[in-house]
Amino acid sequence: MASTVIKGGTVVTADLSYEADVRVEGGIITEIGTGLTGERVLDATGCYVMPGGIDPHTHLEMPFMGTYSTDDFESGTRAAVSGGTTMVVDFVLPSQGQGLMDAAQMWHNKSGRAHCDYSYHMAITWWGQKVWEDMEASVKAGMTSFKHFMAYKGALMVNDDEMYQSFKRVGDLGGLAMVHAENGDVVAELTAKLLAEGNTGPEAHAYSRPPQVEGEATNRAIMIADMAGVPLYVVHTSCEDAHEAIRRARAQGKRVWGEPLIQHLTLDESEYFNPDWDHAARRVMSPPFRNKRHQDSLWAGLQSGSLSVVATDHCAFTTEQKRFGLKSFAQIPNGTGGLEDRMPMLWTHGVNTGRLTPNEFVAVTSTNIAKILNCYPKKGAVLVGADADLVVWDPEKEKVISAKTQQSAIDYNVFEGQKVKGLPRYTLSRGRVAVEDGTVIPKEGHGEFVARAPRPAVNRALSAWKDLTAPRPVARSGMSPTGV
Ligand code: URP
Ligand code: ZN
Ligand code: ZN
Ligand code: ZN
Repeated sequence: MASTVIKGGTVVTADLSYEADVRVEGGIITEIGTGLTGERVLDATGCYVMPGGIDPHTHLEMPFMGTYSTDDFESGTRAAVSGGTTMVVDFVLPSQGQGLMDAAQMWHNKSGRAHCDYSYHMAITWWGQKVWEDMEASVKAGMTSFKHFMAYKGALMVNDDEMYQSFKRVGDLGGLAMVHAENGDVVAELTAKLLAEGNTGPEAHAYSRPPQVEGEATNRAIMIADMAGVPLYVVHTSCEDAHEAIRRARAQGKRVWGEPLIQHLTLDESEYFNPDWDHAARRVMSPPFRNKRHQDSLWAGLQSGSLSVVATDHCAFTTEQKRFGLKSFAQIPNGTGGLEDRMPMLWTHGVNTGRLTPNEFVAVTSTNIAKILNCYPKKGAVLVGADADLVVWDPEKEKVISAKTQQSAIDYNVFEGQKVKGLPRYTLSRGRVAVEDGTVIPKEGHGEFVARAPRPAVNRALSAWKDLTAPRPVARSGMSPTGV
């Protein structure tokens, strides 16, 4: 079998760094050592050899707010590999009344042109017997994580009773519950009030979704998950109010994880007050960008380990699509891009500033989420037998981010003009060189679906391990105390 050797670099994993060559054959890592030779040699001198990034939060070609997000699996995964990301996890979004497996088939139909591997989370967008039944089929088909929108009232939002029932089902199936945590009822009230008062511009989007709506929903989701006995992953954690709830839950022994986005870490609310309507609208996403106090909280969470993963929530709309909301901010399609910039931006603002070590960088961009989603060490590892999803990272390589040179199909970039230092020299997707000297070598259809098994039972408990064998007092009704 033809072998490729990545030579002369420093292997950097989530827990250690050491000098070694890495041999890749048949799409997997077959040897790690010194003095290795192979048919093809990739020079990694002066570089770090790290697990390829995993972006666990993308919306590619997703029907949303009257349109479809513009980056699809082709342009989206091309953007991903260009920035060192070798796996994306997209959200299957069933329409109202649609079965989960029917929707999953639609996503499989869309993902055929992917340049790197991908997996799916399943969104619970409505509730009924059919959904309950399909959840088991979803887990059997390798889609073991289930997202619940606590916002987008009248569209994707699920109520607490539905969420509790769904969470219990996810727990029983060994799955992972996920939430978009914003109080959708309060957001709807604030939106109506702001519009009635004539506040129609993009800045009002931020006022309609203050940190409190996120903090409240995060607390609520954590408590409901605890009662349902299911581990919980909170997507796009943007503020101290939500982070505080996650931090407290984790300190109590609950299996709860928080996911800040690179956008929230590096861009702030002042973007919405830019006099250029397009500039502000292009940055409209939920939750909105926050102020420095919240950004500092997110960085501290990554440093201390109370926040676990940095994602993008890549959901890219063109300027033309954003202009659907010229008359009302509530009609601006929510979402921003970032897939190709997540790793360079986090390296620049995290590692180069001394906030994160290179090992912590690997943990929050790849290894932690591979473990949370139960696809480690196939993904997220530099180990013999792991998939050769690797990035040869050149810490000296620089560029200025610009829409003119990006892979994403939209006409702007929210990080436009930012100088980054730290970029891929090579990106390997299951052994295939997808980026060489910083240039993308596209191969549509190379990407494969990654099926994920349910979580091991030992990793499911929340606040308290309950000794189910211990004798319990029985009440007159025949019920025993629940212990929750
Ligand atoms: O504004 C956002 N985040 N758009 C994508 C959908 C979602 O809420 O994650
Ligand atoms: Zn969301
Ligand atoms: Zn601008
Ligand atoms: Zn999202």
